Amino acid sequence: MTDNSLITDLRKRYHEGKPVRILFVCLGNICRSPAAEGIFRYITEEKGTAAHFHLDSAGLYAGHAGELPDKRMRIHATRRGYNLTHRSRPAREWDFNEFDIIIGMDDANISGLRSLAPTDDDRKKIVRMTDFCRLHPYYDAVPDPYYEGAAGFELVLDLLEDACMALYDAITE
Ligand code: 4NP
Repeated sequence: MTDNSLITDLRKRYHEGKPVRILFVCLGNICRSPAAEGIFRYITEEKGTAAHFHLDSAGLYAGHAGELPDKRMRIHATRRGYNLTHRSRPAREWDFNEFDIIIGMDDANISGLRSLAPTDDDRKKIVRMTDFCRLHPYYDAVPDPYYEGAAGFELVLDLLEDACMALYDAITE
């Protein structure tokens, strides 16, 4: 699990009725992070709490800016009931002002975000998606599926569903 004081702050915001602002980040913002955003959004809609959350995703590599999620990711996500409509955008310094927690998928994302963060306090907002996993405790990254086959995309969705549900529970408990 991640720094408890960060989650405590998010829980406080939630219970005070302030929007909890979550940014999911990966490399291209066309596979893992838009899927994380879509899954978390789905959970909040199912629970009737969508108005309590401001969700977005971004990429550390800007080469896919403006694109919908990768077609393979959309196909695998649709089979599980997630409609991914996010358009890729680059992560930016300003995101550290606009979000309460910024969640990276792997080591490279975490170090990219640490370089982007303007201050040490901002760096405290950065966490790793797999730190929330309950059913998959031995993964320390959501692996990049871009050069993988169908199993890679299914694994991404398994890990993200696990982590998103646990994060949602931690914020709303
Ligand atoms: P993502 O996957 O970081 O999960 O969106 C990738 C998408 C594109 C590239 C790499 C990873 N790329 O090299 O273009």
